[in-house]
Amino acid sequence: MRPPNKISAKPGPCTIETVLEVKHYTDRLFQFRITRPASFRFRSGEFVMIGLPKEDGKPLLRAYSVASPFWDEALDFYSIKVPDGPLTSRLQHIQPGDEILLGKKPTGTLVLDALKPGKRLYLVSTGTGIAPFASLVRDPETYEKFEQVILTHTCRELDELEYGNEFVAATKDDELIGEMAREKLIHFTSVTRDDGPVKGRVTDMINSGELFEQLGVPALDPDVDRVMICGSEGLLKDMKQICLDRNFVEGSNAAPADFVVEKAFVATD
Ligand code: A2P
Repeated sequence: MRPPNKISAKPGPCTIETVLEVKHYTDRLFQFRITRPASFRFRSGEFVMIGLPKEDGKPLLRAYSVASPFWDEALDFYSIKVPDGPLTSRLQHIQPGDEILLGKKPTGTLVLDALKPGKRLYLVSTGTGIAPFASLVRDPETYEKFEQVILTHTCRELDELEYGNEFVAATKDDELIGEMAREKLIHFTSVTRDDGPVKGRVTDMINSGELFEQLGVPALDPDVDRVMICGSEGLLKDMKQICLDRNFVEGSNAAPADFVVEKAFVATD
C-alpha cells in the first residue's frame, strides 16, 4: 500500500477529513466512509460537497448524498466511477488514511420535511440514486411518519443491486431501527440488462400496474401515498410525469406536498 495522501492546501469552504474504509462493489461502483466532524449536522436524504484538491490547490468538489444515518459517528458515500471524470477518476483510488474534503453545508429536497403526512412512502431510485435512501431508511422518523416504506431500486445488472441488498439487510438487523424496518420496509429490485427475478424499468411496472400487484398494495394515490425520486435524468423526468398525471403535487422544504425529486449526483462527474 502507498503512504496516505495528505491535503496541505487551504480547504476553502470545507473541512479536511480522513478516509476510514473503502469498498468496491463493481468496476463502476464503490462506497467510502470518512470521519465526521462533531459540528457536522444533516437531515436524512441531504447531500454535501465532497472532493480533492486540484493540482493548483483549489478544491474540486461534487455533490454526494450522505448514505449513512444521522446518528452514525462517521459518514458514508456511494459513488460511480466515471473513467474520465475529473473527480471520480481520482476518488476511486482513495485508501484508508487518505484525506478528503468535506463541505460544511448539507442541503437537498429529499427530506421528510418536504412531504405532507401520508400512509405509504415510496423511495424510487436507479443506480447510485439509492444513496440518500440508505440514510432515510435508517431514520426512526421515517417509520414514525409512515405505515409502510417501499424502496425501489432499478439497475442495469444484478451485481449493481448488491449495495442496496446489503444495507437493507443491515437495517433490518439493526439494534435501533431493525424492528420498525422489519415491519414496515419493503425492498423491490429490478434489472434492465441482465436476467434477474424481476426485469424491467420501475416506471413501466407502475404504468402497467405490475409493481402494485407484486407488492400487494393499491395503485398510487395522492391522498395516501408520498414519493421521493432519485436517479438518472430519464427516471426523474418519467417518474415526475407519472406523479403529475396522478395529481401529485411537487413539494419542497418551503412548501411540503406529495412528491420530491433530486438527480443522482456525480452520474456524469
Ligand atoms: P435501461 O437499462 O432500460 O436504460 P444508468 O446506469 O444509465 O444510470 O441506468 C440505471 C437504471 O435506470 C437502468 O436500469 C436504466 O434502464 C434505468 N433507467 C434509465 N432511464 C430510465 C427511465 N426513464 N425510467 C426508469 N428507469 C430508467
